[in-house]
Amino acid sequence: MLNLEGKIALVTGGGAGMGRAIAEAFGGQGVRVIVAEIDPARAEAVRVALDDAKVDNLVEVVDVRDAGQVAALAGKIADRFGGLDILVNNVGDFMGIVGPFANSTPEQWDILYQVNLKHMFIVTHAMLPLMRKSSADSSRRGGSIINVSSIEGFRGIPGGVVYGAFKAAITGFTQSLAVELGREGIRVNTIAPETTDTEQVQVTNWTNPKYRDHTERWIPLGRFGVPRDAAGCAIFLASDLSAWVTGTTIHMDGGALAAAGWYRTPAGQWTNMPVIADKGLIF
Ligand SMILES: NC(=O)c1ccc[n+]([C@@H]2O[C@H](COP(=O)([O-])OP(=O)(O)OC[C@H]3O[C@@H](n4cnc5c(N)ncnc54)[C@H](O)[C@@H]3O)[C@@H](O)[C@H]2O)c1
Repeated sequence: MLNLEGKIALVTGGGAGMGRAIAEAFGGQGVRVIVAEIDPARAEAVRVALDDAKVDNLVEVVDVRDAGQVAALAGKIADRFGGLDILVNNVGDFMGIVGPFANSTPEQWDILYQVNLKHMFIVTHAMLPLMRKSSADSSRRGGSIINVSSIEGFRGIPGGVVYGAFKAAITGFTQSLAVELGREGIRVNTIAPETTDTEQVQVTNWTNPKYRDHTERWIPLGRFGVPRDAAGCAIFLASDLSAWVTGTTIHMDGGALAAAGWYRTPAGQWTNMPVIADKGLIF
């Protein structure tokens, strides 16, 4: 049902975190994997891992914010593979920029724009001719673009207003592009993760051990995300399992968005009130 064997996929930021998990999971399904990664050491590490797993791969050190570098990568993909079936626009970063919107600067807005939204335009624009070429071949028909957003694009994020705005914009990009490309058999969807343990967000390390039990009461599925969760969503969206799914979002969030402000008290009851011992709405 997957029909991924022999497909060609590009994963941006595939040297760490969710991108690396997606790249390796694709490789495990017989996908030929291209990784665009800005960090040379991470690029080398994922190349070695893919080689060791006998995955046909092309790992390039590329800054996806740079249209020239991305165009050069498209040329290499054309020469080596002749087309592209799957594109995962995974790069994104809050860049350590946290604080009230009133204190943010135009320079910070630009930094966040480049790394959370503009690269999706650059990479998708550069790779579309290759994806169209693959999809126009009746034996390969169908393509999948997967944009990695954030659950913060679907709720407010105080202290991350500009980051949240660009993540929310990915929803619009996904929907409109899905409509444009539907006739060509190229699907476009979004994965929106809740807090996930990665190199960028080392949430378990950052949580004081004495408060770690909070997590299992706050997130309905009882834990933070792990990169493998993103890999599962990406396999679904890349494969024929989702052949009739386009223009939509998988909230990869352990149920956190559905729960909104609801969480369990230490006694295991549900509340949407501040932490209180004996007052408020307790279910
Ligand atoms: N981890 C989380 O809690 C979380 C939550 C919501 C959304 N996300 C989103 O998920 C995606 C993946 O996040 P992650 O936590 O796995 O990130 P990560 O930082 O752990 O891994 C991202 C990889 O992308 C590379 N990269 C960064 N900028 C690049 C560029 N300009 N060109 C090429 N490569 C570049 C990094 O070197 C790194 O290897 C991002 O879009 C992020 O915004 C993450």
